Amino acid sequence: MDSADFDALEERARQKLSPGAYAFAAGGADDEITLADNVAAWRRLRLRPRMLRDITAIDTSVSVLGERLAMPLMVAPTGRHRLFHPEGERATARGAAAAGVPYVMATASTVSIEDVAAERGAAPAGVSAPQWFQLYLPPERSVTEGLIDRVAAAGFRAIVLTVDQPVYGSSPRSARTPLAPSPDIRAVNLPGQPVAAHSYGAAHSGTVTFPATWRDLEWLVARSPIDVLVKGVLRADDARRCVNLGAKAIIVSNHGGRHLDATVSTADALPGIAAAIGSRAEVYVDGGIRRGTDIVKALALGARAVLIGRPCVWGLATGGADGVRDVFAHLRAELARTMALCGVAKLDEVTRDLVA
Ligand SMILES: Cc1cc2nc3c(=O)[nH]c(=O)nc-3n(C[C@H](O)[C@H](O)[C@H](O)COP(=O)(O)O)c2cc1C
Repeated sequence: MDSADFDALEERARQKLSPGAYAFAAGGADDEITLADNVAAWRRLRLRPRMLRDITAIDTSVSVLGERLAMPLMVAPTGRHRLFHPEGERATARGAAAAGVPYVMATASTVSIEDVAAERGAAPAGVSAPQWFQLYLPPERSVTEGLIDRVAAAGFRAIVLTVDQPVYGSSPRSARTPLAPSPDIRAVNLPGQPVAAHSYGAAHSGTVTFPATWRDLEWLVARSPIDVLVKGVLRADDARRCVNLGAKAIIVSNHGGRHLDATVSTADALPGIAAAIGSRAEVYVDGGIRRGTDIVKALALGARAVLIGRPCVWGLATGGADGVRDVFAHLRAELARTMALCGVAKLDEVTRDLVA
């Protein structure tokens, strides 16, 4: 990939994918206000760079939940990768490992947990590329317990509970260009569950899918043998309560604007949540992050790392595992350049005052 932004990559993906698969990935809920605002909110922020610092050795590594990562980036959980590439989540997992970033596998994956686990392990020397599992809580406890035990046995290091999709949102864009996947492209890790074949369109909007409550989070933290993180938090009071119940990290996210429209952007939600949590847990953020400058802004506002959603899908669609790896190589190069121009050699020098 050259230094052009991800718009060109998205355009190449659009040409390759079926109209329904492209709309499924690109679209957002209702009027797509949040979808657009996530990108715009990072762009609105301005940097206040430091001068005359020694930036001859730039280090983009960071520790996350006790593991050293090559860069403060991760693959956000996105479902149904066989819509985008024949190898599906296997390719995504391999690309993430090659880049040295964590892969957050989605519950709604089209490849089995064990097959994704088999792609782990190719991380560059000196860094880890752990796998985490994004969990939706199906109403039946036995199904959830089966998933928890499978992912822990397969070596996943954390469970990321997504809490912002109790019902499906509605995407007019997807409704106009419905998905018609072959029946074998389904959520294979939820066999027999009605949601296994659901897509993101008019037919299911408003359907109650994963109605987790605080009691379920409490149960999950007690039941899970691995760390529990919570994704989809937009308020400081919710974030505090998650941490009080034992969450090890909070992911500030509005699901890429896919379910509830007109939410606060993640750039705007992040500072208040980071301030409320302090050092009691780690805070990550996703939504609209497309540039090295966006990453530095997110870290300055209190995130320890950021997750990348749609650009990974475009990389997967255009280049499989290599395409995913290249997305992170591109972002890392932009991050290193931004750090140098801001006068920071290490990420712990990225402090709040770097954003005006
Ligand atoms: C095609 C697609 C599928 C997604 N599926 C899930 C999912 O299954 N679980 C989840 O927690 N988030 C899901 N998300 C949301 C992402 O994890 C992430 O929050 C969002 O994409 C970040 O915004 P960005 O795409 O602007 O980077 C999905 C996003 C996309 C684009």
